[in-house]
Amino acid sequence: MIDESAAILKTVSKEYPLSFPHPNWSEQNPEDWWNATVDGLRELTDGVDQAQIKALGVGGQMHGLVMLDENDSVLRPAILWNDTRTGKETDWLNSVIGQEKLQALTGNIAFAGFTAPKILWVKENEPDVFAKCRKICLPKDYLNYKLTGVFATDVSDASGTLYFDVENRTWSQEMLAILGIDESQLPKVFESGAVIGRTDLLGMNAAVVAGAGDNAAAAIGTNTVSEGQCNISLGTSGTVFIPTDRYVKTANPALHSFCHANGKYHLMGCILSAASCNKWLNEVVFESDYRVGCGAENDVFFLPYLSGERCPHNDGDAKGAFLGLTHATTREDLQRAVLEGVSFAIKDCLALCPNEIKKATVCGGGTKSKAWMQILADVLGVELNVIENEGPAYGGALLAAGTAHEPVIETTVSPDPAMTALYEKKYAKYRQLYPLLKPFYKEN
Ligand code: XUL
Repeated sequence: MIDESAAILKTVSKEYPLSFPHPNWSEQNPEDWWNATVDGLRELTDGVDQAQIKALGVGGQMHGLVMLDENDSVLRPAILWNDTRTGKETDWLNSVIGQEKLQALTGNIAFAGFTAPKILWVKENEPDVFAKCRKICLPKDYLNYKLTGVFATDVSDASGTLYFDVENRTWSQEMLAILGIDESQLPKVFESGAVIGRTDLLGMNAAVVAGAGDNAAAAIGTNTVSEGQCNISLGTSGTVFIPTDRYVKTANPALHSFCHANGKYHLMGCILSAASCNKWLNEVVFESDYRVGCGAENDVFFLPYLSGERCPHNDGDAKGAFLGLTHATTREDLQRAVLEGVSFAIKDCLALCPNEIKKATVCGGGTKSKAWMQILADVLGVELNVIENEGPAYGGALLAAGTAHEPVIETTVSPDPAMTALYEKKYAKYRQLYPLLKPFYKEN
């Protein structure tokens, strides 16, 4: 909740369950999002006159498939952005329809996490669900529909469906025909800051804006809106976000080319597991808190592919791995290897960006680790401005307020040239590991 000057008045956060019912599957129940939203808004606005809330804006996880029937009931759990069950459908789109054609129609090639292959998966594996489906939308659009009764999406989130013509900011009729769906099943497209309707939830009488995908929202929250800037987000996923004034056909299609929430465009690299790798190590392996020490540089490597990988490998079968263990390896070595491995994966994305990046903002849960921020700056050789606020939520609020704001920089971290040189060498070795392991992943 922000005031008229864009200052943060209060932040509330709610969790909801995540399920992995089969290997490579990742699902959530849209009703859980809605219940958490209502509970969160109740707590957020507790003690204020709700009628004074002028506008709401949602920043939501991207690519998730939500299907509703003729009564607007949810037909099946949402299939999320890090679900990689759709290897077959993704391969079909990239090889039979062809990457060139997909890129010409949508600006992008197919990735397992995108929405289009999920629709093909449901059509093939759950024909009853597909037949009953009257509405198809993204996670935040479901919340906006519940808030306003208006079935809407925004250009930044629609960009991640692979049935949206990014350059022209409209649904791609040819892609809808390929998928066997109709525009009448899809939400109306708005620019991210446009008002789609109003909500009277909890006594509010507030305008609701279309909102944005979480990464575009985070870019608004960190004021990453102009060419030459870069925002890195370290949440469950990790992303590198580069604003562009115009639509860019990427030389390497592993990089996404999407609409920005500010009326322009952006390039993005996304790794599927970032701060979630550190969380996994500490909670599942060490069963201790987050603050295991982080030792000196060593020869242990970690591949962060705990959910497969999107950029640059586009490989849902990839798996995480530790390499280089000896009797001398300590917990601290493993911790450091994880923080380095995720930083190398971010470097893989940054390496695809057309222009050299010298400076970036960083937001997301990963920024809480000072040691990681130094490792990231050293690995990338980039000066990092660590941002204090929750990027996507703050960006959603700024879209609702119709304003921009310079973010509060918590600290600036400069790369240490000696460490950057050392990490150049370690990164070169890291780059050799995925190609070596790829055949093993495929067979297992
Ligand atoms: C971006 C992506 C993730 C999700 C996380 O392409 O898949 O960053 O948006 O919520």
